[in-house]
Amino acid sequence: MIIAIANQKGGVAKTTSTICLGGLLAQTTSCLVVDLDPQGNLTVGLGVDIADDQKSVYEVITEQVEVKEVVVKTKSGLHLLPSDISLAKGETEILTKVGNFLILKERLEEVSHQYDHILIDCPPSLGLLTVNALSAADAVLIPVQCQFFALKGLAALLETIQSIQKRLNPNLQILGVLPTMAEKTLMTRDVLASLNKRLTGITIFDPVPKSVKFAESNLAGEPIHLYADDPKLIAPYQAISQLITGEK
Ligand SMILES: Nc1ncnc2c1ncn2[C@@H]1O[C@H](COP(=O)(O)OP(=O)(O)OP(=O)(O)O)[C@@H](O)[C@H]1O
Ligand SMILES: [Mg+2]
Repeated sequence: MIIAIANQKGGVAKTTSTICLGGLLAQTTSCLVVDLDPQGNLTVGLGVDIADDQKSVYEVITEQVEVKEVVVKTKSGLHLLPSDISLAKGETEILTKVGNFLILKERLEEVSHQYDHILIDCPPSLGLLTVNALSAADAVLIPVQCQFFALKGLAALLETIQSIQKRLNPNLQILGVLPTMAEKTLMTRDVLASLNKRLTGITIFDPVPKSVKFAESNLAGEPIHLYADDPKLIAPYQAISQLITGEK
């Protein structure tokens, strides 16, 4: 199963969710995470430092190397397709290629038999990289920050998902919306109420609480379940992991 973690809004915890969910999946299954963001936050957040001459997702989407040559094993047991700023150049380079929205899907087919799950961390845009992720995916998980303007842009994302379902990938399902950085405030309550009211037919997962432990775990290069022994922080990701693996 390939899952894209997407929202064109920046800083909503796409990368953190990829690390937390991937880390949990890697406990019992084989899991590859793909850093499809030129910011390379997933790569750094898993404690991987890519050397100047190291191959990355850039060489994969520009079809210069085999995927297996690029995969890195991380200390948490996850396999990673790392990325760095060169991916921005890659996105421009494939612009004129025929069928450019299907490149990632084709490339992942080389290794998909080796993994039970593949998670794709999308960049904060609805550009060609995100379209590639949504074309390759079986399902999309949408993290939404419990903040003012949280729902702004969600309509555009859902429209993009619908167009992709119609034209490029009829198998794409919405796994659900994951509210993140939830606090015990009126703001969080309002956002959760609006999500439940507006997104009928879409699963809204239990919210992930706001905690500095997430930023700390990113810095430590570890998924939250390895970094903090706090069931409240882990439970929302555990529930999604169990849904994906069918344990629940
Ligand atoms: N539940 C949480 N509580 C508090 N801080 C969090 C939580 N989840 C993530 N963060 C922090 O919020 C910031 C943004 O998270 P993250 O990088 O995962 O978002 P993103 O959607 O991937 O951002 P971008 O759009 O730039 O790729 C990071 O500093 C991260 O450590
Ligand atoms: Mg990110």
